Amino acid sequence: MGIKITVIHGPNLNMLGKREPDKYGTTSLDAINQMLASAAQEKGVELETFQSNIEGEIVGRIQVAVRSTTDVCDGMIINPAAYTHTSIAIRDALLLLDCPIIEVHISNIFKREPFRHRSMTADIATGQISGLGAYGYILALDALVRMIEK
Ligand code: DQA
Repeated sequence: MGIKITVIHGPNLNMLGKREPDKYGTTSLDAINQMLASAAQEKGVELETFQSNIEGEIVGRIQVAVRSTTDVCDGMIINPAAYTHTSIAIRDALLLLDCPIIEVHISNIFKREPFRHRSMTADIATGQISGLGAYGYILALDALVRMIEK
């Protein structure tokens, strides 16, 4: 069976391209998902993307990816967006996974307001990429595939 990777985008990331371009760039979420899809195709990896503005829907999608359900996930890339800084529910859902998790932030959260410096998920993620723009997602995919293939 091939490698299966789930990408989860949190609230307001559907507005990428229009949203605070000085911080998040001008690349739309569709364009990021397309970049990820073609990188995944090149690597022969199955990739699914999901975006929601609703915390409970993100928790639900993470639960779908838990092993032992029919929808297996070998690795996860997640940008919980604003929920990064607040969501114990997303943290607890991620703790259900037994696969590598990479937390991605487009902006460098440590260069921004103090409330963005705290992540509820960074210490349970395999790793974090922050501040490399949309490219961070591609690097995350690359790192995950290397990890899983090892
Ligand atoms: C973000 C950083 C968060 O602080 C913010 O709330 C977002 C996006 C990023 O990708 O840089 O919505 O996760």
